[in-house]
Amino acid sequence: MRRIILGENLAALAALPAGFAQLIYIDPPFNTGHAQVRDRLRTSADRQGERIGFGGRRYRAEHLGRSGFGDSFSGYIDFLLERIEASLRCLDPRGSIFVHLDCREVHYVKVALDGLLGRKCFVNEIIWAYDYGGRPKTRWPAKHDTILWYVRNPDDYVFHYDEIDRIPYLAPALVGAEKAARGKTPTDVWWHTIVPTSGREKTGYATQKPLGILERIVRVHSDPGAVVLDFFAGSGTSGEAAARHGRGFVLIDENPEAVAIMARRLAPYSPECLGFVPAPTVGGR
Ligand SMILES: C[S@@+](CC[C@H](N)C(=O)[O-])C[C@H]1O[C@@H](n2cnc3c(N)ncnc32)[C@H](O)[C@@H]1O
Repeated sequence: MRRIILGENLAALAALPAGFAQLIYIDPPFNTGHAQVRDRLRTSADRQGERIGFGGRRYRAEHLGRSGFGDSFSGYIDFLLERIEASLRCLDPRGSIFVHLDCREVHYVKVALDGLLGRKCFVNEIIWAYDYGGRPKTRWPAKHDTILWYVRNPDDYVFHYDEIDRIPYLAPALVGAEKAARGKTPTDVWWHTIVPTSGREKTGYATQKPLGILERIVRVHSDPGAVVLDFFAGSGTSGEAAARHGRGFVLIDENPEAVAIMARRLAPYSPECLGFVPAPTVGGR
């Protein structure tokens, strides 16, 4: 199953079959209080250009437009919980749900999810730590996101330990050559760069998450051939991670720009995704 759906996710979820997804990953708006926007620019070499790059070369930037989505909610927890609850019907009994947030809302969402899913179903709080951007002088710079991992059944869930990538020891000399060469498994703190600002991975979509984080989640928390559901899909990072590892995906977003980016991004893996499906419409949120 490989599908991109344009539409409001509550309506779209209701139209999906029961139990088809083994892994749900969502990265909803963080309720930052301001719109997430990004200017799309095309740069070209120009001696008269206003931008100066590597080696003093000059560039001209052409403004192609602005993309983004609103990120200010008065009833954030109700909005999110209603949609997570609706998605549970789609989740396989051995499946997992990952909810990616930052420090603004994560504590409230954790308490609400404990109530919805049961505290026994909470497994890990994964910290994605990065180091990029400004450093205010009035507080500790906030440089991490939090990903909550819940399972449907705490006694039986998919977790492919052998699929965990290994990372270097901080002090390899202390563990011996053999262990140092093998590396160690990561903890619940994942150090990973943000999406490189000028790399092939970058789609230009505001809030795009790194493929490396999603690939780790997909490999470890789903079987080959299983389906990943993301109903706040943005640029489709979870879909690309799924496709790269032989999983299916169902990606939902109400922003036509997001859907256009996903369709382009996933076309090399699944040409059929270029024809995305509109979701049924119901009343607004
Ligand atoms: C933080 S972004 C996701 C970014 C994505 N993880 C990526 O790597 O590109 C959240 C997305 O949720 C979408 N969204 C917000 N509310 C929605 C709703 N009710 N139904 C469908 N999509 C929604 C926004 O359009 C936005 O693209």
